Amino acid sequence: EEDRRQRLRQVLDLAARLYHHLLTRTEYGKAARDYLQKRGIEHRTIEEFQLGYAPDSYHFLLRFMKRRGYDERLLMEAGLVAEREHSTGRPSYFDRFRRRVMFPIHDSQGRVIGFGGRMLGEGHPKYLNSPETDLFHKGKFLFNLHRARKVIRRENQAVLFEGYMDVISAWQAGICGGVASLGTSLTDSQARVIRRNAETAVICYDSDTAGNAAAERGLDVLKKRDCIVKVARMPDGMDPDDYIRERGSDSFRSDVIAQALPFAAFKLESLKKEFDLKDEEQRMRYLTRAVEVIADLPLAIERDHYLRRLAEEFHISLDALKQEHRGIASKKK
Ligand code: CTP
Ligand code: MN
Ligand code: MN
Ligand code: MN
Ligand code: MN
Repeated sequence: EEDRRQRLRQVLDLAARLYHHLLTRTEYGKAARDYLQKRGIEHRTIEEFQLGYAPDSYHFLLRFMKRRGYDERLLMEAGLVAEREHSTGRPSYFDRFRRRVMFPIHDSQGRVIGFGGRMLGEGHPKYLNSPETDLFHKGKFLFNLHRARKVIRRENQAVLFEGYMDVISAWQAGICGGVASLGTSLTDSQARVIRRNAETAVICYDSDTAGNAAAERGLDVLKKRDCIVKVARMPDGMDPDDYIRERGSDSFRSDVIAQALPFAAFKLESLKKEFDLKDEEQRMRYLTRAVEVIADLPLAIERDHYLRRLAEEFHISLDALKQEHRGIASKKK
């Protein structure tokens, strides 16, 4: 059994090296090199993340691995090939990743456990990830954790992204404590991993409907594990990788990451968007809901701070807000 896991690791490691070689040193990788260059990915980044390329072929990896003595079953179990039932009844195997830029995914010890592959140019699905295998459990690992961990511990802060390219662009921009949960929403076990390494988590998801919803869910998961959570914001429609390309690394560090809002401020701000504050009745409804959000905060000083801010912002008496707050707080008991 241990022997089989060892073989799985070997074949995944070899696959990562094959893809990387194809990207960096062969004619097969030319279009992918151009693509990455167009996206602003530097040579040093390709090396750091061991990016690769899977050629547009159903049997490139399969044949390569078979020549080296790895059989189809093992390649299946590694998630590198898929099978299809043949009319003869015998299954036939083919490369899972084709015409894709390859992102190796490592466990916390830096061993390759799977891959994400991005279609070169347009095509569906845009990203394809390894299936669940004995080594690769989505929801349990965080992309880039083994590289980022040192920085995360030193800064006592992790930055959470949605995607591979966000982590990688942020790394190029000097934000090296970035990890990603890769499209799925953050799980409790991922939150625990983060908390084990840092007190603060900065959520830096795409500024779109899906990203905002994922940020709200991630917030709750992280809060439950006792993280200090902040939320970074970008102009609507942008993701971190877009932002860095359009506005530069300095602005990303100082205007996005450093300006991330504390949890409560973020909640109040997103709540605000649900109301038309020029309308008096809607304004009152917002205030009521805002006081509810504040009543949920764990610390009295925090609650006091946000009540004061609200009073100032809307020119109402702090007393009135506090009265409202007491009403809500007592109902919650
Ligand atoms: N994702 C996925 N499968 C998809 C789409 C997305 O697994 N079909 C995951 C990927 O990990 C991706 C992340 O969700 O990195 C975020 O998705 P999205 O914002 O759509 O992609 P980007 O990372 O912005 O991709 P790109 O910039 O390359 O277009
Ligand atoms: Mn290299
Ligand atoms: Mn998105
Ligand atoms: Mn995105
Ligand atoms: Mn993107």
